[in-house]
Amino acid sequence: MSNYHIKHLEEYYQVYRKSVRNPEVFWEEIAEEHFMWRKKWDNVLSWDFTKPEVKWFEGAKLNITENCIDRHIYTRGDKTAIIFEPNNPNEDAQHITYRQLHDKVCRFANVLKEKGIGKGDRVCIYLPMIPELAISVLACARIGAIHSVVFAGFSSSALATRVKDCDAKMVITSDGSYRGSKTIDLKGIVDDALNDCEGVESVLVAKRIHSEINMKEGRDHWLEPLLEEAYHDCVPEIMDAEDPLFILYTSGSTGQPKGMVHSSGGYMVYTGYTFKNVFQYRENDIYWCTADIGWITGHSYIVYGPLANGATTVMFEGVPSYPDYGRFWQIVEKHKVTQFYTAPTAIRALAKEGVEHVENHDLSSLKVLGTVGEPINEEAWHWYDDNIGKRKAPIVDTWWQTETGGIMITPIPFATPTKPTYATLPFIGIQPALMDEQGQEIKGNQVDGRLCIKFPWPSMARTIWGNHQRYKDTYFSAFENKYFTGDGALRDEVGYYRITGRVDDVVIVSGHNLGTAPIEDAINEHPAVSESAIVGFPHDIKGNALYGYVILKETGESRNHDNLRKEINQLITEQIGPIAKLDKIQFTSGLPKTRSGKIMRRILRKIASNDTANLGDTSTLLNPDCVQEIMDGVL
Ligand code: WTA
Repeated sequence: MSNYHIKHLEEYYQVYRKSVRNPEVFWEEIAEEHFMWRKKWDNVLSWDFTKPEVKWFEGAKLNITENCIDRHIYTRGDKTAIIFEPNNPNEDAQHITYRQLHDKVCRFANVLKEKGIGKGDRVCIYLPMIPELAISVLACARIGAIHSVVFAGFSSSALATRVKDCDAKMVITSDGSYRGSKTIDLKGIVDDALNDCEGVESVLVAKRIHSEINMKEGRDHWLEPLLEEAYHDCVPEIMDAEDPLFILYTSGSTGQPKGMVHSSGGYMVYTGYTFKNVFQYRENDIYWCTADIGWITGHSYIVYGPLANGATTVMFEGVPSYPDYGRFWQIVEKHKVTQFYTAPTAIRALAKEGVEHVENHDLSSLKVLGTVGEPINEEAWHWYDDNIGKRKAPIVDTWWQTETGGIMITPIPFATPTKPTYATLPFIGIQPALMDEQGQEIKGNQVDGRLCIKFPWPSMARTIWGNHQRYKDTYFSAFENKYFTGDGALRDEVGYYRITGRVDDVVIVSGHNLGTAPIEDAINEHPAVSESAIVGFPHDIKGNALYGYVILKETGESRNHDNLRKEINQLITEQIGPIAKLDKIQFTSGLPKTRSGKIMRRILRKIASNDTANLGDTSTLLNPDCVQEIMDGVL
């Protein structure tokens, strides 16, 4: 009996060995003892990474919302499921109990049905961090509709691309959103996006900022009156374990984002199990993850993982700097938060503002701290440890991806000794491998290579929506019979992993994955631009920032370069969103290329990072002369 809650290092090793020696027996036990199924599986796992095809709990029937809501009503119906903390600290927080959550999700589910949404239909959710976001996600799951949440900081054209890619029938949004001292016209953005999306039949609009907005007759509906009229109970749709639960887009090396498809059964089991252990969650804890539900971290560790464990999860609408830089710590104190999970970029930004914003808050409730999304540097790690955890709350540096669905490499607090900048050990059931460029696995310790995973885990994405070939090419073709993460990593003398960063054309800026190709596509639309190349360079707060090298069609001083820079960033904001804006833009007459015409980004990265001592051999380039020109003009 139960390996569900791991408390010591010895226990971790013992359970880990079991999970690797006999994965099927192991996961069957976890699934059976801790989750609710309408019908058990015929087969725990079948897999073939060459196709690739992975199936967990095949033949099983379930609905994830019964696991996240219904079953808790009997044991903890009056317990708070979601604490909503608004942007403005003077507005009251909302506490939604499990019983109330059931009511709200069922009503919402009935509204979806009434508007013609059924099992397998795609619903795009473009909402700020208000309760309706979590509720609409769960309402889709209730009726077997596939949700596709798009982060509400994306532009209208990025939204349109995602709506069209999965052929969504409905969009759920709000009249607007609050972000610090700003308000954002979300509905306007949706209207722009939908000019170009014929498949969308209806738009549901939640009221948040009470602004005047345009409602299109026949298509747009205010949500509130529909919810009031709807019936408060809704029989869950019974799903196959392998039925898709959601699509979530992530950046890739082409302009088209990748719609990662996650399953119902395996995803539930793995996010539930990791949540319990990585945060050492106990019944009366108050857990807070500061991510947005528009990203995978929010899906797995604000909504599904916590609720599957009957936890209390905090949803924060605002930003860490409003009304001042003490906002996070004020919320921790107010709600007596026990687990706090955030991104290194937020830690660095807050550390820069000084400890005075921390000191006047009581943080003694905190037991476990977490980070995710990018490598955490040593200085930020220590600041977090010293000032927030007071060296008593262990830091879990959790490495994982949109594609992995759940946390993959992480310490288990109070069990695994932590080490700054190391994500430490693979989670139960995870079998990492480091590979060299020739495709051989690098065994032993004190080595570094490309990070792969050798064996399936329950929450791995099953495909890319509408493009299985791309799924295979991106993740299963670089190394035979292995899932390739796109990250580099090293393994130290005791077997701890440290993630060193992306080895492909994705740059992580403030914890957001940005493909360089879509940004280049946006820039190249500018009439004055002939070609461009984007690379990342180190940045104190954001981790990485973007550096653009741009070739203009007409050289000379005929155009004002500062105006051009503004126009280029404006284009990027329109096409992708403000998160993808470039910090530096250098105009040049050439880009270093190989003889086959490929841009040598490695060289551009080094120049942008001021690391020109070892540029490597540039003599084999097609146009070696441009390297000096670029170095002379570096910003
Ligand atoms: C990076 C976020 C270092 C990594 C859950 C990965 C990290 C990408 C860490 C996925 C970490 C995430 N240390 N790097 N603890 N966590 N990353 O899809 O490069 O938004 O491939 O998923 O973030 O980002 P994504």
